[in-house]
Amino acid sequence: MIIALTGTPGTGKTTVCEIIKEHSQYRKKFSIIDVNRLVLGEKLYTGKDEARDTYEADMDKLEERVKQEIGKKNPGVDVILEGHLSHLLPADAVIVLRAHPVALRKRLGKRKKYSFKKVKENANAEALDVILVESTQRNKNVFEINTTNMNLLAVVKSVISIIEALKQGKTPEEFRPGKINWIEYVEID
Ligand SMILES: Nc1ncnc2c1ncn2[C@@H]1O[C@H](COP(=O)(O)OP(=O)(O)OP(=O)(O)O)[C@@H](O)[C@H]1O
Ligand SMILES: [Mg+2]
Repeated sequence: MIIALTGTPGTGKTTVCEIIKEHSQYRKKFSIIDVNRLVLGEKLYTGKDEARDTYEADMDKLEERVKQEIGKKNPGVDVILEGHLSHLLPADAVIVLRAHPVALRKRLGKRKKYSFKKVKENANAEALDVILVESTQRNKNVFEINTTNMNLLAVVKSVISIIEALKQGKTPEEFRPGKINWIEYVEID
């Protein structure tokens, strides 16, 4: 199974995958592809939006490279595509990590490379469900985890429980989207 693990920057995708890699019982079952590393490391972008301080990924090239990487994996292993673009790639299911915009603003505010404008833009994208909406437009199997008051190990366990339920042909109902409404946390100027 191929699972896209996505979410606004700062929602914990990389940290969750680091924990999966650290635990041998998880490491055996899952293989992780770091989508951002492919984009930046192999320059799979068409340009840089200087004003927004983001790279514009070349999605066709990225998809091709991701498929190649998946092809190298042991067929028995589940592949997690990690990164905020992963929901734009073909996958059997999408898991969106969510974090309250106020918590996200605090976390992203600590990143030296993030300008005030970039922090605000990302917190607003979270408040407006941007990645969730993009995900549901492309994939029928979309689930979300509100990580705001969860410790990271609990987030890992939730991610794995979603994947395991899907593999058994079940729908992990508690993670179906629709419970989160952070619209009042959009910052207008
Ligand atoms: N559930 C959580 N509780 C507390 N802190 C968290 C939680 N999830 C993530 N963090 C912290 O938030 C910061 C950002 O996490 P991380 O780098 O994993 O985000 P990301 O989703 O990979 O972001 P990006 O898309 O920019 O790569 C880290 O310092 C991490 O420890
Ligand atoms: Mg990351």
